[in-house]
Amino acid sequence: MSTTISVIGVGYLGAVHAASMAELGHDVIGLDVDADRVAALNDGHAPFHEPGFEQILRRGLQADRLRFTTDYADLADVEVHFLGLGTPQRTDGNGADLRYLRAAVDSLREVLPARGGAPTLVVGKSTVPVGTARTLAEQLGAVEGVHLIWNPEFLREGFAVKDTLAPDRLVYGVADPEDHEATEAAVGRLDAVYAQILERGTSRLVMGFEAAELVKASANAFLATKISFINAISEMCEATGADVTDVARAIGMDDRIGPKFLRAGVGFGGGCLPKDIRAFMASAEDLGVGESLAFLREVDAINGRRRIRVVELAAEMLGAETTSGLRGRRITVLGAAFKPDSDDVRDSPALEVACRLREAGAQVRITDPEALAGAARRAPGLETEQDTDQALRGAELVLLLTEWGQYKELDPARTRELVEVPRIIDGRNVLEPRQWREAGWEFRALGRP
Ligand code: UDX
Repeated sequence: MSTTISVIGVGYLGAVHAASMAELGHDVIGLDVDADRVAALNDGHAPFHEPGFEQILRRGLQADRLRFTTDYADLADVEVHFLGLGTPQRTDGNGADLRYLRAAVDSLREVLPARGGAPTLVVGKSTVPVGTARTLAEQLGAVEGVHLIWNPEFLREGFAVKDTLAPDRLVYGVADPEDHEATEAAVGRLDAVYAQILERGTSRLVMGFEAAELVKASANAFLATKISFINAISEMCEATGADVTDVARAIGMDDRIGPKFLRAGVGFGGGCLPKDIRAFMASAEDLGVGESLAFLREVDAINGRRRIRVVELAAEMLGAETTSGLRGRRITVLGAAFKPDSDDVRDSPALEVACRLREAGAQVRITDPEALAGAARRAPGLETEQDTDQALRGAELVLLLTEWGQYKELDPARTRELVEVPRIIDGRNVLEPRQWREAGWEFRALGRP
């Protein structure tokens, strides 16, 4: 059965959610205050690189099941509203900035009475500090017929469509999970939206608002901790001559630990993990239990140190005593996005390393199949080059910092023909050291001898 749906805030999360809901057969309207973004989406153009997204966007538009607007008045008849607004890090601290979310809820409240008390569901998907859902529920509670469910989103960039249409689990946060009578109808309404997903046997967990908010924050904190854990072991490996990939492979075979998110390297970045662990710490401090999450400060610090380590290693390989000795040296950085299959450069380790090298006076050229426009906007002084061969030409040192498929498959012998001096740092531990050394390269990696 099809439901009329709105998705308010069509950034990464919201746009993918809107197109995915249309893919499930619902009648969807996406809203954003950014008129350019709305126009692009209505024209079938994806404002970001995400495999499979543009296809489902176009399919939804062509089938007349999907459209985008800037006007809240267009949302008057909608049965289920999803909140997909961004909650960036505040400029004055570590906490999350809830301005966009609160403004959207204020605007939504204006149109909700038009439903005349007919059952209407508001579903929060944004990542928020624990306690936010309850305050928003109070704000909405005054409108007859309206219910709020907090339904956190776990999508990964690069797999966003798949993660939305085939999630590991669905989490519904409700005001009082014990009060079945009050929540049954609302839960049923959201189940109807996700019917195709639930029919496949996907777990659906109903819990309190606070638990649902904590699920999201703790999942991201756990993932960040796992990455920083292996990167801390990487520092131990550097001090002892051990190979971190051996350690990771062996500990990952213990199924209590598992092999995923144990890839040591230049660390995590992106629009979620770094800001979310900081917001989580800020939230713990506000609640008077700052000590419980104090370890996340260390997780963040380990992550930052890996970026500095690459810069130091670059100086070392180029025979520069200090990073100031990098002046004029020609360095090529492979990758600008925070991870492959994404054009997102927010808090990208690759971009930060490139900027630090440039600040130290090096002549840095950066290449990436999708993220150069974003890189140029964020770091206007960097020299960008789309073509990989062209980017490699004349380099005295190559840094692989985002593991795009084409960089993992570079042939050491052929690549050697392009560069000035065959020196490489594998910042993602994806190349085979022996193969590169045999081809005459001076090869270094993070946490590997
Ligand atoms: C993350 C969460 O995975 C997702 O569930 C949540 O909804 C949003 O935040 P995303 O930001 O898309 O998703 O990226 P993810 O795939 O988690 O990678 C995050 C960063 O960690 C990347 O910079 C990646 O390169 C790095 N990473 C990941 C490692 O350094 N090592 C690993 O083993 C795994």
